[in-house]
Amino acid sequence: MALCLYSACLPLPQHPVNVNFSCLSHGLGLINRSISSSRRRRRSIISPSRSLRSQILPSARPETIGSRVFVVSDLHTDYIENMTWVRSLSSNIYKKDVLIVAGDVAETCSNFVLTMSLLRERFQHVFFVPGNHDLWLRREKHNYFDSLYKLDKLLDACERLGVETKPSIVDGLGIIPLYSWYHESFDEERDITGIRIPSLEMACKDFHVCRWPDGLENGESSLALYFDSMNDKNWNTVKDIQRRCSHTVSFSHFIPRLELCPEKRMLFYPNLPKIIGSNFLETRIRSIHGDVGNPSACHVFGHTHFCWDTTLDGIRYVQAPLAYPRERKRRMNGGDDWLPFCIYADGCFAEKLSPCYWSDYYAVNPRTPNCTELAPWVARFYAKTL
Ligand SMILES: [Fe+2]
Repeated sequence: MALCLYSACLPLPQHPVNVNFSCLSHGLGLINRSISSSRRRRRSIISPSRSLRSQILPSARPETIGSRVFVVSDLHTDYIENMTWVRSLSSNIYKKDVLIVAGDVAETCSNFVLTMSLLRERFQHVFFVPGNHDLWLRREKHNYFDSLYKLDKLLDACERLGVETKPSIVDGLGIIPLYSWYHESFDEERDITGIRIPSLEMACKDFHVCRWPDGLENGESSLALYFDSMNDKNWNTVKDIQRRCSHTVSFSHFIPRLELCPEKRMLFYPNLPKIIGSNFLETRIRSIHGDVGNPSACHVFGHTHFCWDTTLDGIRYVQAPLAYPRERKRRMNGGDDWLPFCIYADGCFAEKLSPCYWSDYYAVNPRTPNCTELAPWVARFYAKTL
């Protein structure tokens, strides 16, 4: 994600099981020097090895009949380690399978094309929706007039490579990519006050390295609505999928519901919910899967780098991010051997991801957004670094 995410170790005493929680890390690319230096100072406070999260086990079964469907988000292959991870994926075992890539593949077009080429060599089908990093112009500002122009070029590249960006049916499973962008008003929960939280413009590079046509502004509802309306042209195919498929997986880069992110008081950047999600996206998802959902409905997302697997109002929501090398080193998402995550095989959705740190936490702890008392690791961070 283009977020500047702070990390820390977080023993959560509220958790029902007496385990040591480890690092909550988030990939905010802080653009403010003073905050960056705060992060450097913080590293001396936090030991990544203090308590590592439990390993998530791979879910794929080799004896599966027919296509399996795997999911991953936030590949960020501008990092050499992440491109190496992509190269290390087997060239044999996924030959009949599908991979859903829920955005943030790479910042540069060359890394995007290389990544998608490698994935196409390994999987029979690769599906993609763009994330914010994919539309950054920082290193390529002279190549693209704006971020929408870059999006067109990435979609052209996908077409050349055989990467699928439109709804389709594979072995009876409906697969529906959904365009989206975040808007600040998505966050309706009470703000944290009393500490100096960096502004969105300071914390989020998208405000500086994405460029939009006149009338569209980063963080505004108009931009989120613009992206949402890109889905209209595929709606006849979506209707066809609704008629023909018993199981359907939709996917987006951004998050459709606030409940899919930890509460503000848990976050090193408490304003994170303002730059992660879209209400228009949730409306789209409900128009596909129904207001009450169904056991055959799943939505995959990315962006926040928090591994997640939960069911809300009848729809299963899953995030399986590769994330940044530093986040994997702390095993914030239970290592990386379980990725890509097999979400569908033998005509069924997979068992729940386990252990799944934050969604496990919220499965047994109520969300209390009116409580603005900082979690201890956040309070310590702001007391010492800002
Ligand atoms: Fe992102």
